[in-house]
Amino acid sequence: MTDNAEKYVAAIDQGTTSSRCIVFDHSGAIVAVDQREHRQIFPKPGWVEHDATEIWSKVQAVVAGAIAKAGLRTEQLSALGITNQRETTVLWDRATGKPVHNAIVWQDTRTAALCNELGGSVGQDRFREQTGLPLASYFSGPKAAWLLDNVPGLRDRAEHGELAFGTMDSWLIWNLTGGRDGGRHVTDVTNAGRTMLMNLDTLQWDESILSAMNVPAAILPEIKSSSEVYGTAVGQLAGVPVASALGDQQAAVFGQACYEVGDAKNTYGTGSFLLLNTGNRPVPSKSGLLTTMGYKIGDEPPVYCLEGAIAITGALVQWFRDQLGIIRTADEIESLAAGVENNGGAYIVPAFSGLFAPYWRSDARGVITGLTRYVTKAHLARAVLEATSWQTREVVDAMYQDSGVKLTSLKVDGGMTKNNLLMQHQADVLDVPVIRPRISETTCLGAAYAAGLATGVWNDLDELKSHWQMDAEWTPSMEASVRDREYRNWHKAVEKSFGWLE
Ligand code: G3P
Repeated sequence: MTDNAEKYVAAIDQGTTSSRCIVFDHSGAIVAVDQREHRQIFPKPGWVEHDATEIWSKVQAVVAGAIAKAGLRTEQLSALGITNQRETTVLWDRATGKPVHNAIVWQDTRTAALCNELGGSVGQDRFREQTGLPLASYFSGPKAAWLLDNVPGLRDRAEHGELAFGTMDSWLIWNLTGGRDGGRHVTDVTNAGRTMLMNLDTLQWDESILSAMNVPAAILPEIKSSSEVYGTAVGQLAGVPVASALGDQQAAVFGQACYEVGDAKNTYGTGSFLLLNTGNRPVPSKSGLLTTMGYKIGDEPPVYCLEGAIAITGALVQWFRDQLGIIRTADEIESLAAGVENNGGAYIVPAFSGLFAPYWRSDARGVITGLTRYVTKAHLARAVLEATSWQTREVVDAMYQDSGVKLTSLKVDGGMTKNNLLMQHQADVLDVPVIRPRISETTCLGAAYAAGLATGVWNDLDELKSHWQMDAEWTPSMEASVRDREYRNWHKAVEKSFGWLE
């Protein structure tokens, strides 16, 4: 047995609905998992907040839980990696270590008016060249500006250097490495790239955008690569190098071994995010996709992606369960939907946070169309699942328009991939095979890989690629005429979701 074979890497995935910690061994296999949910706070329609202090305690609990389940001592961990829900914005007081407001979650639409204002006469694409992103309430820069403008006293404190801004990666790394006693205030390029404040070419904060959005540089973390030692943990993980940070979707790209130009993956979580590796240069989108960072390993050149971001997919199943009470558990949706042959003519467009790719319409709101008395809860269950596959089809079409790359298969991961009915429908509407890897926890795996690369646990991407193994494949079986008719119906439903917010 080599020394490396005895090395373990832990990864924290701080997601939208829960935090988890997974310990991996040297072969990339899961040794132990622990997970806890946190509260979703909805102060007004369209507003979504998290309590960052609660998240930090849940993260500490899952780290302790995973290490205990793995039966390991802290010294046996070679590195800790971080992956996280992107864009969710925290401002905290550097002296007390306490957040000054609830975190504003990526799904929150309160900055829609501010984004419109920022667009001015140029419109939504005012910062697209520098950032790869359209002006939309999704991104964190305007969320930070909103907090500074709307919470009394914050702007003054920010300008005096008293406050720190971060997405969840920064908040966790700062706390893990000592907090107010010398915690490292850093972020990585994949997370910084989603603030709308980072320049995609220089990989640094863009001063012209900071000044346009009125965000003081004094609050910002230092931008680092996605795979390097940022600092050493204190507390329960004392001595463990904190050695990676990637937004969760980019971590999934890394965990799915999408290392070549043209490799793509789709992760089905709260929302769904399809990313295509476009290599060392950012590719501009004309079709409503985001140009975004893929990853940057230490001093190596950055890798960019095109991304189709869909705000609501798994969250629609949660809504069906929690708000409508039609099912008791998320898993029940599959058997309910399997009780009928088709959607009975019903379509659900879950524009709860407006519509993201490829539309970027913050005025859109959710609609259910095609209702007749024939429609049952089973048809609606189908419509819930089909909303995920049709939204994915739309971003795949946009990707083809932008890159000319025609998908030959799609690698998938995330919670919804255990739903066979959905995965079959996904293969049917894309007309390509859909493939799930054996380790479907690709976000944690990607963060672990990046942390292990930085600390010598693994040598290179070829070694990581050799770990990838297929677990399941769904092949298309839908008639083209049915697919085309259904897609037309979907588009009619989407049209009806526009224009609900003045
Ligand atoms: O951009 C938002 C995304 O990072 C959220 O991912 O898996 O927490 O829903 P997830």
